[in-house]
Amino acid sequence: MSNHQIESASPHVLPSLPYADNALGPVISANTMGFHYGKHHKAYVDNLNKLVAGTEFADLTLEKIIAVTAGKADKTAIFNNAAQTWNHTFYWRSLSPKGGGEPPAGLKKRIEASFGSVDACKKELATAATTQFGSGWVWLVLDGDTLRVVKTGNADVPLTKGMKPLLTIDVWEHAYYLDYQNRRADYVNAVLDKLVHWGFAEDNLDS
Ligand SMILES: [Fe+2]
Repeated sequence: MSNHQIESASPHVLPSLPYADNALGPVISANTMGFHYGKHHKAYVDNLNKLVAGTEFADLTLEKIIAVTAGKADKTAIFNNAAQTWNHTFYWRSLSPKGGGEPPAGLKKRIEASFGSVDACKKELATAATTQFGSGWVWLVLDGDTLRVVKTGNADVPLTKGMKPLLTIDVWEHAYYLDYQNRRADYVNAVLDKLVHWGFAEDNLDS
């Protein structure tokens, strides 16, 4: 499913997970999923619906809300909840119980052209994840013709910077603390080795 299908309008709904809540174990436990998807992601959706009800944003799609509120100091709460709703839906799709391994041929060629090798790309993602100070996200994006790794703080999303997200890893503490405590690097490396859904990233290249 491509990122351009995250296009819900008000009332925004919490999309179903693309797998069972215990399917990502042991890398990400059902306990983490229960809090992360069932509480955190749900809260962003619920808060967004409350914030946009009866406003000029009520009939806009999620991506449109993100686009028109980005960088506006008086719309921070709406932006944060809209972007976090989008980011989490994109994150769940960036993972798969059958993830990890080698990217499909088309994506692999693009990764090798931009990073030299798949391992170099994974290393850059891991480094970005461990050097993101505080809460945020790490992304593989298409920037012009080049694949790049970028990191964003808090709710920020590369969509607002003209880049096309291909996949993401959530590095907020709520993504890993129950399973890894403070060991963010262990969480990210396990995700990259076992869960990262390269096929989703490849689909997004052409979406
Ligand atoms: Fe999260």
